[in-house]
Amino acid sequence: MKVLVTAGPTREHLDPVRFLSNRSSGRMGYALAEAARDRGHDVVLVSGPVALPPPEGVEVVDVVSALDMLAAVSARLPWCDTLIMCAAVADWRPASCSAVKLKKRAMEAQLTLVPNPDILAELAPKKAGRLFIGFAAETHDLLAEAQGKLARKGLDLIVANDVTQPGAGFETATNIVTLVAPDAPPQPLPLMSKRAVADRILAWAEAKAASLPPRTPDPASRDL
Ligand code: PMT
Repeated sequence: MKVLVTAGPTREHLDPVRFLSNRSSGRMGYALAEAARDRGHDVVLVSGPVALPPPEGVEVVDVVSALDMLAAVSARLPWCDTLIMCAAVADWRPASCSAVKLKKRAMEAQLTLVPNPDILAELAPKKAGRLFIGFAAETHDLLAEAQGKLARKGLDLIVANDVTQPGAGFETATNIVTLVAPDAPPQPLPLMSKRAVADRILAWAEAKAASLPPRTPDPASRDL
């Protein structure tokens, strides 16, 4: 398979030194990229700013903001047959970014936010038989929230992640997730390493891809 993975947070700058972001370390997304590589797939990893070494044998595209990530993922979508959106994309960004460091008194006026595009929703019309896998980071109503996102974003699978559980979610080496597909009962997985979670997600994707008719290659597709 040709697997496009996103990882890490996005940063939404207010000025050259300040930004809005979140706690994503990139560990889950990098584990997915490494697992996909080790299972013999071609992998492109679109990564927000993280402190992890680039995985060998994987093309890494570094991005900063949600708009950068949308551009990078859109450009590579024609190439891939599986998109795994693990990145914690900021839903909002400052309405403008100052070219110079803001003075304290100017901060409040600068904190007007505008919504970022939803990358999965933007790309849904171009899905064309590709597998789209999302994550849902939740603090409550895990399955209801994940099922809502699965349906709204037109996904094949959503990985529901209760980020309040010890050993799960942001920054940890381990995770606890439930795989939620439209046509099957939710499949809860026990606490395991992020690498083991990644292998379970890829095994699901490989089985799903094998059950689908072969895709006609996109005319815009190209080898990266
Ligand atoms: O990076 P780690 O420290 O290892 O932490 C892993 C993780 C907690 C970040 C990861 O397991 C996880 O849950 N990732 C999804 C985080 C998230 O942003 O979830 P969400 O419920 O806000 O978004 C739902 C889905 O829509 C996600 O696939 C997200 O990538 C996508 N999305 C979100 C916002 C947006 N503007 N565009 C999107 O495409």
